Amino acid sequence: MSNGLDALGPLAARVPDQLRASAGYHVPRPANIRAKLDANELPFPLPEELRQRLGAALAEVSLERYPDPNAAELRSVLAQRLGIAPSQLVFGNGSDELIAMIVAAFAAPRGAGQTSAEQAPERGIGPARAELARPAAVLFPSPTFVYYRLAAIARGIESIEVPLTSRFELDEVAIERAIEQHEPSVVFLALPNNPTGTLWRMEFAVELAARHRNVAVISDEAYFAYSGRSSLAHLAQHPNLIVMRTLSKVGMAGLRVGYTISSPPIAELLERLRPPYNLSALDQAAAVFMLREATSWCEASAAEVVTERKQLEATLARLPGVEVFPSEANLLLVRLGLGRATAIYRALQADGLLVRNFDRPDAKLAGPLDGCLRITVGTPAENALLLASLAVHCEAIRNP
Ligand SMILES: Cc1ncc(COP(=O)(O)O)c(C=O)c1O
Repeated sequence: MSNGLDALGPLAARVPDQLRASAGYHVPRPANIRAKLDANELPFPLPEELRQRLGAALAEVSLERYPDPNAAELRSVLAQRLGIAPSQLVFGNGSDELIAMIVAAFAAPRGAGQTSAEQAPERGIGPARAELARPAAVLFPSPTFVYYRLAAIARGIESIEVPLTSRFELDEVAIERAIEQHEPSVVFLALPNNPTGTLWRMEFAVELAARHRNVAVISDEAYFAYSGRSSLAHLAQHPNLIVMRTLSKVGMAGLRVGYTISSPPIAELLERLRPPYNLSALDQAAAVFMLREATSWCEASAAEVVTERKQLEATLARLPGVEVFPSEANLLLVRLGLGRATAIYRALQADGLLVRNFDRPDAKLAGPLDGCLRITVGTPAENALLLASLAVHCEAIRNP
């Protein structure tokens, strides 16, 4: 056994196998960082005038009281903005929490409180209920956002991972085949995808929901502000479709506010699993303020990031030994070569530039992100620093 679990003594043996084999979500925080380009955040801080007014709004929050468990004001502001009914919204402490709730709502580990189709008749359970009660898996393309896998592991649920093509495009035929074979109850599609930035055919999520009515299909639109593409308009026709969004990527990652938009029955189901006070009173007040007062700033900032991304993409593609993948998010995935990517990552870090390293030069088996770094689009000044530094290191550190 690894991961230092040995020190737990006999309790270590009780940790499920899947969890033993997994690693936590490690986020490096080195000192002296000049540009933090590793977490797909918006790089611009809130302007001073808005900051002052936000501070005044937060000063009014009653910290001695629990937060509103229904987030009524936030719900009303957001529902109005999205043109949906307030009952279609469920809030999460970031969309991470919603992912975990969705997995808990629709998938259970084998033998954990679910009735198999074979047992159903003797327990007086009808066919529709028995169908739902089959052991269920969670399916998603790979590589994608890591928390889908972590949420499944946390509940002892099988993850079916369907490889993307070598250019990180979605293999729709392989997804369909895997659904037929494994009968998952949940399918996550990150549109656009993280860490690749690629935006797959949006309609595919809706088509899956139409073809597989016993599957919850999640259109994870964390990067909607950058792609402008959504499955929202199709929700009314597909009660099993869930749109998931977050405030994290548009200047509010510090708040931890994500939300799903779905049919009311799914929202009601997720509500049964939601910790009642999952959004703090400060989160709620700040989110309400931002939605009411700072939407145009958020939109203008996201538009500036898109302009920057296009320039960054074009310049990166001209550097020696750099392959850039197309992106519709606020990030760019680049392939620099196995081992070389890690060397360049370290050189960037020494220059005070933090990006995300997916290279694994010491791994025994090859992986799809070997040789890759993910760069979050920064401010114009940060991007200039990054490009200057990369130009030097890409020249100096060549593939063996
Ligand atoms: C595709 C995708 N979904 C969901 C999330 C989670 O966002 P949060 O928990 O900050 O709302 C992320 C974060 O990077 C993401 O990339």
